[in-house]
Amino acid sequence: MGFFIFAAQNIKYMKAPLIAPSLLSADFAYLARDIEMINNSEADWFHIDIMDGMFVPNISFGFPVLKAIQKHAKKPLDVHLMIEKPDRYLEDFKNAGAEILTVHYEACPHLHRTLQAIKALGMKAGVSLNPHTPVNVLDDIISDIDLVLIMSVNPGFGGQKFIEHTYEKVRKLKQLITSNKAKTIIEIDGGVTVENASKLVEAGANVLVAGSTVFNSENPVQAIIDLKK
Ligand code: DX5
Ligand code: ZN
Repeated sequence: MGFFIFAAQNIKYMKAPLIAPSLLSADFAYLARDIEMINNSEADWFHIDIMDGMFVPNISFGFPVLKAIQKHAKKPLDVHLMIEKPDRYLEDFKNAGAEILTVHYEACPHLHRTLQAIKALGMKAGVSLNPHTPVNVLDDIISDIDLVLIMSVNPGFGGQKFIEHTYEKVRKLKQLITSNKAKTIIEIDGGVTVENASKLVEAGANVLVAGSTVFNSENPVQAIIDLKK
């Protein structure tokens, strides 16, 4: 897929990061308008947060909303599953338009099997780590992962404060990827701002998720440009 080749090039040349605005911070009453804004911006992906009220203490939205998003979105859907037992729904997410499907390490006792199942359905396979989960749990599986999503807040809500320890985690993950000659890309999610974006890219991040930085801005299109700089 073209955008993955682009992201891999970013790793090499430290180019601008891909930006994935999180629709969790959009105005759900005007979802088509907000999707159109992203379509016409420099954003690269739509970040879609699915929460089940079990794995995280919040419920976001499910398939009917995701299918409605799919109808309007003209960029890849990057779906972040904050749900227990995600294996139950992999095919449904494929059918709802997910191109990248990310599960949580903490929710998958048979992570290898889950990743193979995601790929067999024709999606890119991502793994997310909660703030307390060390990067080295991925030592034996990094080459099977297309994308690692490092949570830089505790998952469940937008608008939280960025955890500073994330930089060190990104550096460690980058090292793990390089030493395994893997093609995995690094995505950061939670508390990303125009201020910390460049430091995250310097540490090795390829994709930045941004919810409140984009949607709480007076000029979301410009906020996306600023995050890329
Ligand atoms: C939090 C979600 C994030 C959230 C980010 O659990 O995974 O994607 O929308 O929102 P901000 O950028 O506001 O921290
Ligand atoms: Zn997310």
